[in-house]
Amino acid sequence: MRKPFATGNWKMNTDSSSSVALAKGVADGSTELAGRAVDVAICPPFVYLQSVIRAVSSSNIAVGAQDVYFEEKGAFTGEISTSMLKGIGCTYVLCGHSERRHVLGEGDELVNKKLTAAIGGGLLPILCVGELQSEREARQTEQVVKRHIEEGLAGIGEEKLSAVTIAYEPVWAIGTGLTATPDQAQEVHAFIRKLLAELYDDEAAQATRILYGGSVKPGNTAELMSQGDIDGVLVGGASLKVEDFLAIIQAAV
Ligand code: PGA
Repeated sequence: MRKPFATGNWKMNTDSSSSVALAKGVADGSTELAGRAVDVAICPPFVYLQSVIRAVSSSNIAVGAQDVYFEEKGAFTGEISTSMLKGIGCTYVLCGHSERRHVLGEGDELVNKKLTAAIGGGLLPILCVGELQSEREARQTEQVVKRHIEEGLAGIGEEKLSAVTIAYEPVWAIGTGLTATPDQAQEVHAFIRKLLAELYDDEAAQATRILYGGSVKPGNTAELMSQGDIDGVLVGGASLKVEDFLAIIQAAV
């Protein structure tokens, strides 16, 4: 059985005091659930990672970074390495989030380098994949998702796949209020699992968690999670309110 997983992506939101308050609120409110029935992670901006890690240290909440660079050290002004993240107690890292791909111009090759470095450095990458509105309209969803998965996981052997979580996030659903219907999401999740079975084997595909992201709210989580191949949620906007994120965690159980 794949354990449900709720992850909050705070993006470039929160400030130093609201980061700690939000983290404490989530940790306090989910003590009962987290660790028992659902895995919970939060991904604050880099500069608040340490204070958030301290704020949740006595809880089961894990902390992730929103990005990482693939080089270990050296002349890479502005970048952050896996060992820096690991060294302060980060567990997860998002790789290839749609805003990195479409706003910052990251391609599959760079995403693959980051994911490979993350696993090598002992972090658990969450590989984000998903199509644009225009690609969905052109019926290219499977083609785009296939490319993101195949190229994102290039060189990752089966023994390393267990470190990876996949997040299907249709770009048209992110921050727009337009959630994919449970059927639309399930269709792509099932496609991803079939693809993983082809690339690896059935056992590996069945063991891999596939999250849905894109306008997840307390009111649509349970229905999304009732689909056979949706194992959790990656939440942006609604993870910025303690009560909403707690309701999502509750609904994900
Ligand atoms: P959203 O963002 O929940 O605000 O749509 C999801 C994400 O970008 O991960």
